[in-house]
Amino acid sequence: MIGEPSTTRVIVRVPATSANLGVGFDVLGLALDLDATFTFEPSERLLVSGCDESFNTPDNLVWRSYLMACQELGLASQPLHIHEDSPIPASGGLGSSSTCVVAGIVAAQALAGRPIDRQKTLSLATTIEGHPDNVAPAVMGGLVSSYIEGGDTITTRWPVAPNLRFVCMAPPYRVLTSDARMALPSMVPMSSVSWQVGRCLAMVSALASGRGKDIRACCHDRIHEPYRAPLIPDYERLQEASLQAGAITFLISGSGATMLAICDGDTSARQVSDAAVALMPELWVRTMCASERGVSASHL
Ligand code: HSE
Repeated sequence: MIGEPSTTRVIVRVPATSANLGVGFDVLGLALDLDATFTFEPSERLLVSGCDESFNTPDNLVWRSYLMACQELGLASQPLHIHEDSPIPASGGLGSSSTCVVAGIVAAQALAGRPIDRQKTLSLATTIEGHPDNVAPAVMGGLVSSYIEGGDTITTRWPVAPNLRFVCMAPPYRVLTSDARMALPSMVPMSSVSWQVGRCLAMVSALASGRGKDIRACCHDRIHEPYRAPLIPDYERLQEASLQAGAITFLISGSGATMLAICDGDTSARQVSDAAVALMPELWVRTMCASERGVSASHL
């Protein structure tokens, strides 16, 4: 272990993310301009505030990720007061658990006075989280494709056209990622593999161009959305209302239950979000832009 116990406070900001983007199952993820904020300060004992009291335990994901990072990077750990301030809804699908994992790992480095090592952060976060598609954009920012090779997470960042708006709709219920993964078939036919790879590549290019017709043409997933949509009781009616109101396409964000309408510009996004709220007033709806910024840390 190296490093003296820190006496400084550190604030870590991590963007919400939307994984999969339809045809990019377990591969594509996008950082959004909505940050979860975590403040870390040395304390006599572990204390977690700003969230439900049930998270104030040593099993807290931010704390466990901090400890794992200290161990992995050879840094001294210390008891902390962790204050979480997250606007990300608990329905699932906007990377809230990734924000916790990434925040803990980055805090370990920042409290030790180290710059953020994004590659190490990414590989460790992927090990903790299980899949890289949420953690990669949370660490790097932007639209990111990723795969795992020999324990490392390898990423490529792609541009996103500035006209695109992402209308996120979180219902007042949750879909657990474990349940959403259980709903998937264990094998897919070869025809679905080529269907998916071709459309995933086209989606990356279409998001860069921002052309609605190109996004609409390729955004037809065959390997997860058909199996997962039935887990979200309001999926079909919100999809229909969003497309009627002018959305380019309508997707499950991550593994749900949050849904995502991709729109061309602010006016269209407003029409889609108004239509969704009119249909389901209890929906949490937020229009977001892609964010180029990944995780950041600063000393207070
Ligand atoms: N790619 C993952 C899934 C994201 O769809 O199961 C969930 O975090």
